[in-house]
Amino acid sequence: MPTTKIIQFSCERPNSNSIKDAVAVLHSGGLVAFPTETVYGLGADALNAVAVQKVFEAKGRPSDNPLIVHVASLEIAWHFTTEISEKGLQLTKRFWPGPLTLVVKRKVIVPDIVTAGLDTIAIRIPNHPVTLELLKRFEGGIVGPSANISGRPSPTSAKHVYHDLNGKIDIILDAGPTIIGVESTVIDVTVDPPVILRIGGLSREDIEKEIGETRRIISQEILRRSPGTRHRHYAPKARVFLVPKNDRETFIKQLSKMKDDGKKVGAITYSENMNVIDATKFHLILSPSVESYAQNIFRALRELDSLDVDCMLVESVEEKGIGAAIMDRLVRAAQNI
Ligand code: TXA
Ligand code: MG
Repeated sequence: MPTTKIIQFSCERPNSNSIKDAVAVLHSGGLVAFPTETVYGLGADALNAVAVQKVFEAKGRPSDNPLIVHVASLEIAWHFTTEISEKGLQLTKRFWPGPLTLVVKRKVIVPDIVTAGLDTIAIRIPNHPVTLELLKRFEGGIVGPSANISGRPSPTSAKHVYHDLNGKIDIILDAGPTIIGVESTVIDVTVDPPVILRIGGLSREDIEKEIGETRRIISQEILRRSPGTRHRHYAPKARVFLVPKNDRETFIKQLSKMKDDGKKVGAITYSENMNVIDATKFHLILSPSVESYAQNIFRALRELDSLDVDCMLVESVEEKGIGAAIMDRLVRAAQNI
């Protein structure tokens, strides 16, 4: 079991010697956690099946859940795919580097373990100076599932990665908290109209402004195409209950009922109206912008978990823009799916 080393970066100036060490670890089949604008990823050489297997083991990830390959440029992306549709290319021009993952046809050199045997592959260029430097120096593709134990809230800081994976991975590149806070949007551009398989840091509205109509389906079909969405996700240990946005009355009612039942209750809210004084000792009040809510929601779920609450009351957001991504995570956390 390796000792996990944490290397700290100030975002603006990636220290070149540390990046060199991380590249060497990747070349020798080791695991490196890296920051992105969305969440931290757990990296391994995408063409090294043995290294990729270690990623699945470290996370406890089901083997039928394929991984995203991170690259530094469209040129390197072409090492992994045979075909990117016009609309796909349009999206890369507009949104890469950024919180968008494209599902495209895979090349045969990609080990089966990366794609879970599918004939497609998920690729993205993340927008983070440290990881872009890592990818450039590595000159290849790095697989990068979120660097958490499978099923748990994704990590938005190096501390979260350390908590989940200490002793199981070689290096954590620590560049502070991530900016967006929810994972990338995954879109299948092998079909037309393209299908949004996971809503995330890039909104459907922004995508549709660029390429027109998309489909977003939650059905048997999506389960077949994106096996990961079938597994339990984003769940803290405590049970999660969603309360409607800005609904103080329901919030207080539910809270009292849970307390009367003898539960230790945590709460996460952001509307001013919900800042109920003395609601519970375990009340995290986040700042009211939806962007800030996205940035902090996984941290908040983890924080309440560390306080050993039995259940959490979490305030809903409107399902538009990044709010759709937040609600997708919260509904899954609440339903334990
Ligand atoms: O923001 C992100 O995307 C982060 C950072 C680290 O880049 N990564 C991330 O990876 O969230 P992960 O493994 O936690 O989620 C990848 C998602 C899963 O839902 C998986 O099923 C889907 O992408 N996926 C990967 N390859 C696919 C494929 N070939 N076809 C359909 N879905 C795929
Ligand atoms: Mg994940």
